[in-house]
Amino acid sequence: EIKLLAISGSLRQNSSNTALMNAIIGLAPENMKFTIYSGLGDLPHFNPDIDIDEGPVPVRGLRTQLKEADGVLLCTPEYGNGVPGVLKNALDWLVSTTEFMNKPTAVISASPTPMGGDKAHASLLLTLKMINAEIVERGTLIIPHITLKLNKEGIITDPKLKQELLSVLQALEQACY
Ligand code: FNR
Repeated sequence: EIKLLAISGSLRQNSSNTALMNAIIGLAPENMKFTIYSGLGDLPHFNPDIDIDEGPVPVRGLRTQLKEADGVLLCTPEYGNGVPGVLKNALDWLVSTTEFMNKPTAVISASPTPMGGDKAHASLLLTLKMINAEIVERGTLIIPHITLKLNKEGIITDPKLKQELLSVLQALEQACY
């Protein structure tokens, strides 16, 4: 059994990235046990001045959940050609600690645009590499036109995407053993 932490970079109620994250969890084999991290919006703005002892309570929660996970799944939109502030803020809280070190991480960006959030994806990889996360080989995906591939019920209607997601899951699973 593998424990995974799934994080969506979108706070939006009807987020396609959150729906995608849930769909991926639905596709996963039984031995991959996912926990959804839902505290992104509750983290204080990163400030080293308040990162004393174990840090602010919400930050401790994030760090503990990460520590307990064998691997991580990130699904993120792109805002203003970059990583959403809330997700970058969470990562900033993890630069000074070791929770992400060697942690197998699958990185997915999805966007309704033809570019699929490629710039946020690239930027996210830069940050993850800086904190020594293990970016899973074949565990990264940039998904353009997400709204044409995932229906309102959160079901993946595009067979090619479904196949790609299954292979990301397989790569993540293997990296966690
Ligand atoms: C966007 N969106 C967007 N998309 C993109 O691919 N690159 C970008 O730089 C931006 N920038 C951007 C700025 C602002 C202010 C908004 C409101 C939107 C579109 C974005 O991909 C779209 O709203 C997604 O649906 C957001 O992801 P979730 O919330 O559906 O997961």
